Amino acid sequence: MTSQPSLDENVATFDRRGFRNALASFPTGVTVISTRGEQGGLVGLTANSFTSVSLEPPLVQFSLVRRSPSLSAFERSGVFAVSVLTIDQAALSNKFATPAEDKWRGVDYVIGEASGCPVITGALAAFECKTHAFHDGGDHVIIVGYVLRFERLMVGEPLLFYRGSYRAMTSDNEFPDYATRNGPRIVPPLNGFDPWTAG
Ligand SMILES: Cc1cc2nc3c(=O)[nH]c(=O)nc-3n(C[C@H](O)[C@H](O)[C@H](O)COP(=O)(O)O)c2cc1C
Repeated sequence: MTSQPSLDENVATFDRRGFRNALASFPTGVTVISTRGEQGGLVGLTANSFTSVSLEPPLVQFSLVRRSPSLSAFERSGVFAVSVLTIDQAALSNKFATPAEDKWRGVDYVIGEASGCPVITGALAAFECKTHAFHDGGDHVIIVGYVLRFERLMVGEPLLFYRGSYRAMTSDNEFPDYATRNGPRIVPPLNGFDPWTAG
């Protein structure tokens, strides 16, 4: 009879470095996610785990490492804001990825009217959310937000993160072969209604 390896054996043989490297082959944008701490203090951290979840209702999510000192603030406040960083904001990404007493000192931001959380000035897009759910995500907590308000800049380049380094988009154009083979890509909004852009 073949026995299933126990969970501990799986963990012991699991190639953690290879796993991290494989995950890092998935390119992402970079965000700063903020909330309100105790006594009105501002909390923020860099996160590339941000992703869209649902259009109706409008949900987004990110995962927060369980040992983060910021976790209790997210649990207590019930709100958060996501600022999508531009290529000019790599220094902000580093700042918010480094534990510090007051990460917001010297940072340009506005307090979002829907959430009361700070939104970084000049962000490519911003989403203000009320917390919809916390889910178990292993050594992370998955935090799902219901989007109360969003905004986006019409111009600007995103800061990208790929294989452990910041990257820039080389071009804002379609992948040329794609356009040649398939024609220009025009994706009509679902049922003529796009909740992300509708006023
Ligand atoms: C590009 C980048 C992406 C990151 N993404 C995440 C993430 O998705 N979730 C997370 O918990 N930490 C992430 N981190 C690490 C946190 O930003 C870092 O641990 C930070 O110090 C957490 O803030 P805190 O110590 O004030 O809680 C990322 C760091 C970088 C540089």
